[in-house]
Amino acid sequence: MRVAMDRIRIRGGARLCGEIPISGAKNAALPLMAACLLSSEPLTLANVPQLADVEFMAALLRHLGVRAEWQPGTVLGEGGTYILNAAELSETTADYDIVRKMRASFLVSGPLLARAGYAKVSLPGGCAIGARPVDLHLKAMEALGAEVVLEEGYVVVSAAEGLKGGHIEFPVVSVGATENALMMAALAQGRTVIANAAREPEIADLGICLIAMGAKISGLGTSQIVVDGVPALHGAQHSVLPDRIETGTYAFAVAIAGGEVELTGTRGELIGAVIPLLERVGTEIAETNRGLKIHRNGVRPIAVDATTAPFPGFPTDLQAQFMALMATAQGVSHIRETIFENRFMHVPELLRMGADVRIEGDRAVVSGVERLKGAPVMATDLRASSSLVLAGLAAEGETMVHRVYHLDRGFERMEEKLSRAGAEIERLSA
Ligand code: UD1
Repeated sequence: MRVAMDRIRIRGGARLCGEIPISGAKNAALPLMAACLLSSEPLTLANVPQLADVEFMAALLRHLGVRAEWQPGTVLGEGGTYILNAAELSETTADYDIVRKMRASFLVSGPLLARAGYAKVSLPGGCAIGARPVDLHLKAMEALGAEVVLEEGYVVVSAAEGLKGGHIEFPVVSVGATENALMMAALAQGRTVIANAAREPEIADLGICLIAMGAKISGLGTSQIVVDGVPALHGAQHSVLPDRIETGTYAFAVAIAGGEVELTGTRGELIGAVIPLLERVGTEIAETNRGLKIHRNGVRPIAVDATTAPFPGFPTDLQAQFMALMATAQGVSHIRETIFENRFMHVPELLRMGADVRIEGDRAVVSGVERLKGAPVMATDLRASSSLVLAGLAAEGETMVHRVYHLDRGFERMEEKLSRAGAEIERLSA
C-alpha cells in the first residue's frame, strides 16, 4: 500500500536500459471520467492510470451518485478500466473537502450543469503553483446562458431551461475551461463555437470520446471547435491516450542518467516540442513500432533554452524535469515559465543537491554543474517531485525524496518503472 509519508531513496549513477511502459494520461483520464455525468448510460474507460488523482475523481463521482467500478490491470503500464454509470445523480454539490484536493474536480461543474441544470462546486485547490482562478470556466457557462453566483467559497451555476449554444471566446488559452466548455456544449441546444480553444491532445481525446457518446463536434485539435448540441448522449467505450508528460519525463530521465531505453505505448507526436530540444541536448530519439527509443552515451548533456507555452509548445508540466536535466548540462540554460507564476518551487530543493540556479522573475538561469550531490529533499508539487527523482538519478550518493504523495498523484509506480530500467531506486514505506 502507498501511504502519505512514504519516501523514495535513490542511489545515483546507474545508467538506464531496457524499456519503460508509458501509462494512460492522467490529464485525459480526469476530464473523461467527468464526462460520464453527461449520460445516463455507462461510460467504459480503458487504459486508465492508477493514480491518487484518479481515485479522487472516482470518489467525487461516487459522491454525486455515479456507480464507479474499477478493474485493475495486471501488467505495469497497462492501467485499469473504469465503468462509470451515472444513471441517476443523487447529488449536485461538490464539497470543499473533495475539490480542494485536486483542481481538476472543477471539471464536474460543466457536465452537472448541462445534465441536471444546476451545480454547486467549491472553488478549487490543487497544486500550490499560482493563483489559478476559474473565471474562464464561468465565462463559458455564462456564454451558454447559465446564471453564475459566487457564494461562500462555492460557485453556484444554474440553467433552469437548459443550456443554449453560444459563442465562447477565451482571452487566455485554458485546458480545463476548454474541456468544461466542450462538455457543456455537447448537450446545449444549438451550435456553440469555442474560439481560442486549447489544443492539448487531451482535449481531442475527450472530444473523440464525446463523439463516441453521440456528440457532434468538429475542429478538434485546432483553436476553433464547433459543437452542435444533441438532446442526450449515450454510453460508449474509450481508451485513454498515452501520457505525454510521463513520456517526456522518462525521456529526460534517460538524457540525465545516460543509457538506452524504449518507452513503449507512446507516440512521438505527443512530445513534438520536446524532441528537437532533446536532440540538441545530445540525445538520440527514434520512433519504433512500439513507441520511442531514447539513447544518450556518456557525453555530458549540452545546455539549451526552453520557454513553456500552450500545446504545441513546450509543456509547463515538464519544466521542472527539464531543469533537473539542465542542472547537469554543460553550459548555461535559460528556462522561462509563461503559464504559471510561482512554478519554481523545485529550485530550492535542486540547490540543496548542488545545482546552480538563479531566478529572475519568470526566468531561471541554470548553470550546469559537473555532478549533482545526493541530499534529502522534499517534493512540493506533482511535477516538481519528479524533477527531484530525475536529479537523484544523476547525483553522487544517496537522495531521499520526502512527501512522495505528490508524486503518486500523477506518476504511476515511478520507482518501479525506473528500477526495472536499471536505476537504483526504492520506496521506503513509513
Ligand atoms: C491543465 C493540466 C495541468 C497543466 C495545465 C497547463 C489537467 C487536469 N491539468 O490544468 O497539469 O499544468 O493544464 O498546461 O489537465 N486560468 C485563468 N482562469 C481560468 C482558468 C485558467 O486565468 O479560469 C489561467 C491559469 O491560472 C493558468 C493558465 O490560465 O495561468 C492555464 O491554465 P489551464 O490551462 O486552465 O490549466 P488547468 O486546466 O488547470
